[in-house]
Parts: sequence; C-alpha cells; structure tokens
Amino acid sequence: MKVKTQVYRIDSGKPSEKAVNAASEAIIDGKLVVFPTETVYGIGANAFSDAACREIYIVKGRAPDNPLIVHVYGIEEALRLGRFRNRDICALEKVWPGPLTVIVNGRGVLPDSVTAGLDSVAIRCPDSSFIRKVMKKTALPIAAPSANISTKPSSTKGEHAIGYFKGKVPVIIDGGESDYGIESTVLDLRSFRVLRPGAFTVEQIEHAFGRKPILGRLAEGSRSAATMISPGTKYRHYSPEKPLFVYEGGIGSINGILGKFAGRAAFIGSDESCRLLRGSQVKTISLGPSRSIRKRVHRMFGSLIELDSMDVSFGVIESFPKDGIGYAAMNRLKKASDHRSFKDSEGLQKLVRNI
Ligand code: TXA
Ligand code: MG
Repeated sequence: MKVKTQVYRIDSGKPSEKAVNAASEAIIDGKLVVFPTETVYGIGANAFSDAACREIYIVKGRAPDNPLIVHVYGIEEALRLGRFRNRDICALEKVWPGPLTVIVNGRGVLPDSVTAGLDSVAIRCPDSSFIRKVMKKTALPIAAPSANISTKPSSTKGEHAIGYFKGKVPVIIDGGESDYGIESTVLDLRSFRVLRPGAFTVEQIEHAFGRKPILGRLAEGSRSAATMISPGTKYRHYSPEKPLFVYEGGIGSINGILGKFAGRAAFIGSDESCRLLRGSQVKTISLGPSRSIRKRVHRMFGSLIELDSMDVSFGVIESFPKDGIGYAAMNRLKKASDHRSFKDSEGLQKLVRNI
C-alpha cells in the first residue's frame, strides 16, 4: 500500500521541534518513523505496540525470527525491559549513550514481534539527539532495526533512507550523515560474547567491562557459525545487487590485476589506492585517506549503494585492517560479498567466471 511520506530535514545536533513533534505523534499513534542515529538510520515504532512492530517486518521484508533492538532513553528504562547484573550496570553507565547494544534476559513486557519470541532482549541507548528527544517526549522505548530493505546495505545518509522508504512510511527524518556509518556492536551480556562487531570496538568493551569479550567465528562473520545464537546473522546482509569481491592482496598490484577488467569493474578503496588506478579506465569510488580508517568505514555502506548505480558488472573493495572499527567493517564485507575474496589475478578471474 502506498503511504504519503512527510520528510523533515533536520540539523542532527539541534533537531527542530517540528520534526520531534511529528515523529513523537507518529510513534504514539502506532506508526513507523525513519530516523538518524549516530550509527546508521533506524526504522522505528513504539516497542510496546505489537501491531506497529509487526509493520516494521512487513515494510523491511524482514524474516519474522529476526528480533529487533529496543532503543531506550537511559539505564532506568533499560531496567524495566531486561534483567541486568549490577557490575554490568556500572559498566553501561560509563558507555551509554553510545553504539553498544546488549542482550540480556527479558522481563516479558515486550511483544513477541520485538523479541521474535526469545526470552532475551536487545537493548541500546543511542547517542543521537533527535531520537533521544522523541523517547523523552513519548516516554516510550522504540524498537528499531536498521533502515534498509532486508539484505540491502544500511542507510548512512538521509537520501539512502528516503530511497528505501519513501511511499512506505509516513515520517522520514533526514539528519544528513550518520557519525559512524556502521551499526552498533551487539554484546550478549549473559555469555559475554560479541554477536555482531560494530561501532563500539572490542578494545572499548574490554576497557569498560574490565574483561575481554569472546569473539569467535560468529563475530568474524563466518557463515557456519551463524546459528540461533543471533538469529539475524544467518540471513543475507548488506549486499549490493552487483557482485562484490574483497581484495586481500598487496595494494601495489591492484592496477595489474584490475586493468584487464577496465569497463567491467569498479574499485572501492582508499584515496591512495584509487590513485594507483588512474589512467586505467577502471571506475573508482574513494572512501577517504588510507590512514583514516574511521572515515573509510563511514563511507563503506554508501559506496555499496553507489556501486549499484554504476555501469559496471561487478565491484572490488579493498579490505580493512582487522582491528578496531576495521574488524566490524570486515564482518560486513564478508557478508556483502557473500564471502568472495581474492589475493591475485587468478583468484579474481575465477570469481568473475562464476558470475
Ligand atoms: O546501530 C544499530 O544497531 C542500528 C540502529 C538503528 O540502532 N540497528 C540495527 O538493527 O542494526 P538490526 O535489526 O539491523 O540488527 C540487530 C541485530 C540483528 O542481527 C538481530 O538478530 C540481533 O541484533 N538481535 C536482536 N535481538 C536479539 C536477541 N534477543 N538475541 C540475539 N540477537 C539479537
Ligand atoms: Mg540491519
């Protein structure tokens, strides 16, 4: 069904009252709102409304066994939804609001459409002035997955979210670019295992909680580890329409490898790596300076969306360093590329033959 969408453009640091009021009214009315957060855009509804949360699954095309993250104003609100150990509350007081989602046992107060019928619940306190104002005004928790159609890259700019959801939800808030451009980290506080690496790094978890989280194959993005531990991880994710391959070899060889595919390939990488392809006719998307990992990760999802609008038959993306926020970016790239990576010319030829 076609819905009339009102788009509000805001300054994400100082959102207008008009936009906050419109979003708050929609949430209270059981409607959906697309909004910016510091990580990526979210598509949210009143977490206590079963009907509104069901609508999120329909609009996104999301599998019904993939639960939603509940966004809260602060610790006090989190304690009403889930059961926390005291030592974890102390750690969360240091890091919230921020890009860390935690899984705890639920109190049974949320509808099944939010938890997908699990005993646990995912809770996050976002550091985004707009959605904090809405949560304060409505006094409601907001269930919100990332604002993308299922399997597609997440929205890191208002225009991405508008592209996905105009005509499908009544209110879209365009707050420009998200700060991080990658989703929150999902940490199961019961097992102290990272289910999804994200904007809150492993190093930051260790610092805040005083111990190292368990990483394992699930956090690395392994397919076989995608079990019921985190329902969402078994589905296709973050994928452009065009085939995407991750380049894991030495960047000095990129021109020699991609030159043969001029006209067919697009390369996504650091400014310096893109410069190596100048004059080769290979189309490039620059993510930013090589030394600025955060900036490059920030533009990653946008580059995957851009790849789909280019007149090429596949994309190649340079891998990220495997620590800090690069660790999270590699988790996304493994999924976006359907685990297709290569190190040399032969490797790429094999991949291209199969598309
Ligand atoms: O940064 C973010 O986290 C964004 C913004 C909007 O807050 N949200 C987001 O939501 O990325 P979503 O739905 O795209 O990813 C949530 C992940 C999914 O993989 C889901 O399976 C997992 O969290 N999850 C939710 N509840 C869970 C639970 N009870 N147990 C295990 N995993 C859970
Ligand atoms: Mg998502």
